[in-house]
Amino acid sequence: MKTILITGGAGFIGSHVVRHFVNKYTGYTILNLDKLTYAGNLENLRDVENKPNYAFIKGDICDAGFIHHLFKERNIDGVIHLAAESHVDRSIANPTDFVITNIIGTVTLLNAARALWKNGFKGKRFYHISTDEVYGSLGESGYFTEHTAYDPRSPYSASKASSDHLVRAYFHTFKMPVVLSNCSNNYGPFQFPEKLIPLCIHNIKTSKPLPIYGKGENVRDWLYVEDHASAIDTIFHHGKIGETYNIGGDNEWQNIRLVRKLCEIMDRKLRREPGTSTKLITFVKDRAGHDLRYAIDASKIKGELGWKTSVSFDEGLERTVDWYLENQQWLRNVTSGDYQHYYEEQYLRR
Ligand code: NAD
Ligand code: TYD
Repeated sequence: MKTILITGGAGFIGSHVVRHFVNKYTGYTILNLDKLTYAGNLENLRDVENKPNYAFIKGDICDAGFIHHLFKERNIDGVIHLAAESHVDRSIANPTDFVITNIIGTVTLLNAARALWKNGFKGKRFYHISTDEVYGSLGESGYFTEHTAYDPRSPYSASKASSDHLVRAYFHTFKMPVVLSNCSNNYGPFQFPEKLIPLCIHNIKTSKPLPIYGKGENVRDWLYVEDHASAIDTIFHHGKIGETYNIGGDNEWQNIRLVRKLCEIMDRKLRREPGTSTKLITFVKDRAGHDLRYAIDASKIKGELGWKTSVSFDEGLERTVDWYLENQQWLRNVTSGDYQHYYEEQYLRR
């Protein structure tokens, strides 16, 4: 039996990865390590929290003593490292938090794995999850490949780039069995409503303004979160040690076009007059250093590992909108802060 440590499993992507692994690999023990920052929400994992092959551990990836002890106690075979500060706007407001969590946190995990896997790295694997934002900003043409030079331009992407470099350095210097992936923008259920798609769904539902940065001309390549989870599964099991894989949806959208599309879907679902929600679109001051375009060339993971997307954008957006409309209580708990009591209620009073 394998014991897999997933960090950041109470966050948006992490919760989908935990659910995927707990349900698919009943012979594995899945440990979800999360500090439960504002972005961590154990309500995301209600459906798997009582499964026998799952355990939640509250803790900080930057706490070296605690992480070392955890590796010692739990005999961990593999790490899937997602814990991070992840929102660009927050990184502009407070860069230091990103340096601490994303860089110090990653090196702390690497050090513990290296120290405790000292009898040899056979059968071990350290999988670091990163973002396409480390490659910087594209013009109107071209794609990010695994060979594109790093050119991070926000404190968030700079901290992720730094952590990627450290993971590769541990491969080259210490022969750590690492693998990495850099993925494009994810969307889907359980995403914190500070990110574009859930923010717009929430604001359309409550008839609040939809803030579009600048002219809305920036382009992102959107991937349904369950397709990211399936790519992570593929890379964790079949990716070559020391390699990096880009993951993307071949699905580029200008922000303004995407928000208009969301408005149309929401008007239909809420039985509002067509055109009602687009009136909420409000152009606001641009994000500082706003990257123009991200687009991933995912031919390596497709060609070498046979991964492909399974959810079209139309289908993924329908599912996402339906999920948010059916889970208004989740959204109310998140926006009121009540979700932060879930851990105390479910885990500390047992
Ligand atoms: P998220 O912000 O939703 O979740 C991050 C999780 O990490 C939260 O549960 C939080 O509590 C936890 N965490 C933060 N600091 C911690 C610490 N010090 N110790 C332990 N846990 C801590 O993020 P997400 O959108 O799910 O992203 C997950 C990972 O995927 C990140 O590494 C991010 O860089 C990467 N990524 C995200 C996207 C995207 O579109 N969201 C795209 C590509 C890559
Ligand atoms: P976001 O979801 O924050 O992801 P990222 O910055 O990691 O790509 O933003 C996606 C795009 O939407 C990005 O170009 C910024 C833009 N955006 C807005 O125009 N308005 C908003 O309120 C937000 C949150 C983002």
